[in-house]
Amino acid sequence: MQIARILQSQGFGSRRECRSLVRAGRVTVNGNAVDDPFLEFPLDGLVFTVDDEDWEYREKACLMLYKPPAHECTHKPHFYPSIYTLLPPELTARGVQSVGRLDQDTTGLLLLSDNGQFIHTWSSGKKRIPKRYRVTLKHPHTPEFIRQLLEGVLLHDEAEPVRAADCTPIDALTLWLTITEGKYHQVKRMVGAAGNRVEGLHRDCIGGLQLPAVLEPGDWCWLSPAHLAALEDYPQTA
Ligand code: URA
Repeated sequence: MQIARILQSQGFGSRRECRSLVRAGRVTVNGNAVDDPFLEFPLDGLVFTVDDEDWEYREKACLMLYKPPAHECTHKPHFYPSIYTLLPPELTARGVQSVGRLDQDTTGLLLLSDNGQFIHTWSSGKKRIPKRYRVTLKHPHTPEFIRQLLEGVLLHDEAEPVRAADCTPIDALTLWLTITEGKYHQVKRMVGAAGNRVEGLHRDCIGGLQLPAVLEPGDWCWLSPAHLAALEDYPQTA
């Protein structure tokens, strides 16, 4: 594929802007300076730099972000900065979207992609993908509270009760809660319906993928083949 088209596919601007980038001598491919925007390169394993920044050609972008607090998962936020300000503009330019949303005050693991199929798969409730949250409560949990979450609580506007797939106390005010749906404000509503209140919410796992300890709030990284395999590796529930 021509280098200008490659750059365009990776979010570096219009075809015209990408041609100009190349002509201006700002691009190298596989270690060599390139000034002809029409030069063709095989895509497999292609690495390039733009203004000395390294990039690898990716047909589709799949990544994870450690969502920090006080960020909104939307392109047009109302009160807080958008999570998309935490990503290189090339990724938003190529249409990367979050897989579902976390509330502005929720922190933790968020997947993003420009692959519609990937987004659909990992946001669908049908696959019953476990999502694990560390929940900080306003009031100490009780056996009755945990029983309700595990047996099911009826949420406003829902026909059927929703159950936690797992609920494991950490200490008097915190617990791990695993849910397999992705309903609006689901954890907060479940906790509220069981008579308590969420004071802090952090997602640390989706499927079998855990938020890597090396990521700090606001950091992102590409999903490696090992991350993708871990994502798929979760126990199926009925
Ligand atoms: N459940 C919630 O209530 N909020 C989130 O951000 C995620 C799950």
